[in-house]
Amino acid sequence: MRSGTTWAERRSKVCGVPKYLLWVLLGLVVIVIVVPIGVMFGRKKGSPGKSSVLLPLYVYPDPGAWDPLFTAIESNPHVNFTVVVNPASGPGTDPGPDANYTSEIPKLNQYPNVRTVGYVSTNYTNRNFSDALQDVMIYSLWSANTTVPGLGMNGIFLDETPNEYNAASALFLEKLAVAIRSQTGLGKDPLIIHNPGTLPDAQYILSPNGPNVTIVFEGEYSTYQTTGIQNDISGFQSSSKCSRDALACILHSLPTSFSDSDVKSLVKDLRYVSGSIFVTGLSVDYYSSFWSGWQGFVGDVVT
Ligand SMILES: *[C@@H]1O[C@H](CO)[C@@H](O)[C@H](O)[C@H]1NC(C)=O
Ligand SMILES: *[C@@H]1O[C@H](CO)[C@@H](O)[C@H](O)[C@H]1NC(C)=O
Ligand SMILES: *[C@@H]1O[C@H](CO)[C@@H](O)[C@H](O)[C@H]1NC(C)=O
Ligand SMILES: *[C@@H]1O[C@H](CO)[C@@H](O)[C@H](O)[C@H]1NC(C)=O
Ligand SMILES: *[C@@H]1O[C@H](CO)[C@@H](O)[C@H](O)[C@H]1NC(C)=O
Ligand SMILES: *[C@@H]1O[C@H](CO)[C@@H](O)[C@H](O)[C@H]1NC(C)=O
Repeated sequence: MRSGTTWAERRSKVCGVPKYLLWVLLGLVVIVIVVPIGVMFGRKKGSPGKSSVLLPLYVYPDPGAWDPLFTAIESNPHVNFTVVVNPASGPGTDPGPDANYTSEIPKLNQYPNVRTVGYVSTNYTNRNFSDALQDVMIYSLWSANTTVPGLGMNGIFLDETPNEYNAASALFLEKLAVAIRSQTGLGKDPLIIHNPGTLPDAQYILSPNGPNVTIVFEGEYSTYQTTGIQNDISGFQSSSKCSRDALACILHSLPTSFSDSDVKSLVKDLRYVSGSIFVTGLSVDYYSSFWSGWQGFVGDVVT
């Protein structure tokens, strides 16, 4: 008996559309909209790993000038500090640094949570290789200086390394890495840091003689904020399969309006992609003195 649509037929339609079609539509909505949003934001769920402080210490050690650093180290024993020591855009040409450095560096080296590394410039590998190597050798001899115990470095920071790959630059950096790792004067397991300041060709990082840490962003906060670099870095990390610990970020010129909690949430974002971090509100001579937010920032890398 056909009298229009049956109850069963009506129940399987909503506004005349068969119910199974609605389920299909709902499925599409989930796949097209909900899943990508989950992927975009899901990564940020849960807390990020702990990071270390990577401090470019280009502060001249006038008596007391490094006290904000000693205070931060002592009040944060669970934070690891990698400190870049830089007497003269390198170690200088004398066998040892001046008296202000020789009185302060051994204090730094006393802390178990501090690793000191010596600054060496490379000028994007345009520098004379022998000159760069000589800088490494001078730092390496510091640890053998019996007049000044505790002067030794435990790694090398190579500034201005190239980001685009070319064989000559790769060879320059590999030869330097082999020399650094064969020195007995740079500690048992010297740390090598590259600073291209931007995402480099992954071949530099993945080379067997590659660096331990690469600075994949060094620049103004506003650049970091407006260019979507966060996503580039996490994309780079998954495509090159390099660990969070192998990457570092340095941001300067934080807005003066930034509160402690703004700094904390910025540092939290950075911790998802980088094992070593430095941020400062200074917008000129960023690394030559301590920023008023320095102490607060240090705690943010682990909590
Ligand atoms: C060390 O610092 C003091 C105080 O700033 C300065 O007077 C002195 O010349 C410095 N010593 C050396 C060897 O540069
Ligand atoms: C600090 O370094 C020590 C020794 O290298 C390591 O065991 C520890 O996990 C590090 N802590 C953090 C928070 O990175
Ligand atoms: C040890 O360091 C002092 C201070 O920098 C320097 O004058 C001296 O030449 C160094 N000694 C050696 C053997 O390198
Ligand atoms: C760095 O290398 C470039 C290209 O060779 C050269 O023009 C420039 O003078 C170098 N800079 C320094 C500081 O040596
Ligand atoms: C590098 O510098 C050394 C002296 O420091 C010099 O003997 C050598 O010729 C230079 N090499 C190049 C390629 O300029
Ligand atoms: C640095 O990297 C080398 C080569 O991968 C590795 O053998 C060494 O243990 C690393 N050192 C540190 C301090 O991470």
